[in-house]
Amino acid sequence: MRRIGTRLGATYAVVMLVFMGVLGLFLTHWLSGYYESSIESLLLQHGRLAAGFFERYLGSDQELGSVAQALAVQLADEGNGRVQVIGQGGVVLGDSAGAPVGRPRLVTPTVLAALRGRPHAVILPGGKGLVEAAVPIRVGGSVIGAVRLTSSLSAVDQTLAEIWQLMGIGALVAAAVTSLVALGLARTVTGPLGAIARAARELGRGRWEARVPVTTRDEVGEVADTINRMATELMRLERARAEFLGGISHELRTPLTAIKGYAVTLLDPQGGLPATERGYIGIIDREADRLGRLVDDLLELGRAQAGRLSIRPGWVDARALLEEVHHAMEPRAEQASVVLAPVEGAARRVWADEDRLRQVLLNLVDNAVKWSPAGGSVEMGVAEDAGRIGIFVRDHGPGISADDLPWVFERFYRGQGAARPGEGLGLAVSREIMRAQGGDLLADSPEDGGALMTAVLPDTAPPS
Ligand SMILES: Nc1ncnc2c1ncn2[C@@H]1O[C@H](COP(=O)(O)OP(=O)(O)O)[C@@H](O)[C@H]1O
Ligand SMILES: [Mg+2]
Repeated sequence: MRRIGTRLGATYAVVMLVFMGVLGLFLTHWLSGYYESSIESLLLQHGRLAAGFFERYLGSDQELGSVAQALAVQLADEGNGRVQVIGQGGVVLGDSAGAPVGRPRLVTPTVLAALRGRPHAVILPGGKGLVEAAVPIRVGGSVIGAVRLTSSLSAVDQTLAEIWQLMGIGALVAAAVTSLVALGLARTVTGPLGAIARAARELGRGRWEARVPVTTRDEVGEVADTINRMATELMRLERARAEFLGGISHELRTPLTAIKGYAVTLLDPQGGLPATERGYIGIIDREADRLGRLVDDLLELGRAQAGRLSIRPGWVDARALLEEVHHAMEPRAEQASVVLAPVEGAARRVWADEDRLRQVLLNLVDNAVKWSPAGGSVEMGVAEDAGRIGIFVRDHGPGISADDLPWVFERFYRGQGAARPGEGLGLAVSREIMRAQGGDLLADSPEDGGALMTAVLPDTAPPS
């Protein structure tokens, strides 16, 4: 649940950092271009002033040579960086930095351009951060030399570094703030979503009274509202379904009793019916019995679900009851060529409704026999474990697949059961019966195959 929040927060932070990074790149690119060109034009402007100064006060290039050094130093003092005065052919005549004068020639492209009469400024390549500008000095219409100014870009670089630093801090703060905001925002969504998930889980377990608190008027609130309305509708349907089943089972009983009664009458050997017809009536009788059991199961389930299953508990010897079921099922097992192994475990008293417990055990053994292969064996017995008493029935048939296992107690659920007769009600009713007396019914598929069903009862003294 928290993961949406972290994901959202991280996304926001990354987006913010990328945005600020791109913004920083554009800004520094633009700013450095702006700074560099303004420094170039500033240097050019200063160069022009200096050149103009020479042009106004000088007559010949002889004189330029004699005042060059002193003027270079003076101009540099006025804050123009390094100032050099260059004569014809690139000869350095004066240098504010005090480099040797006279012999060396300085023929950079900028200087050459100036000596040809074109003022020129350039950022020097090589990463040292230097700007160079040169302006021709003209006397009497011809170029007699040039003023060369060089200045460091370190101030610009420093400014840019500061901007980067500010942008970096800003980006981190913005990323932190946006991700916090995103976290908060996500929580307003994930909080209610958690409540919705909890309610949906409850509803999934059949607790129809579960509801989601609707706290907001947004999409999440709408989902909560929809789930609540769905739950109400499910509750109504469930009630209608139970009433319908209850009603119809009840209605079926009377005609079934009549069918059964007349069938039995017709089956009477004194009735004089021919054998074939008696055979047919026998089928009607058996099917009426089957339908009767189905209707009884349905009524029972309805009662159990309404919490109206009548339980009349008393002391029962679980082992003796199991012996009785064993005995009762013997003919059916024999018919199916299945061996019922002797009952295991010692005599053990349990507090239960004997008739209903018998019904459950008959059901379990019936299933076990039904699913056993010919020649297979069914084991049963009483065992004790951690304050509980288990009455188990074990067979060696196909077992219950992991897919079926969670569902075998559902009404009308039949796994691979389509292959065997049945309505899928036996286990559902049996479990309700066990639960109604404080126990449970467990299904297991042991690793070495077959099915293991255990009716569990608490090993407690009865309420006095
Ligand atoms: N001993 C068993 N071995 C294999 N599958 C079983 C066994 N007992 C129950 N089942 C599975 O559980 C389903 C439900 O059983 P039950 O409620 O008794 O219904 P029915 O016996 O009418 O099919 C069966 O259809 C079958 O798939
Ligand atoms: Mg069954």
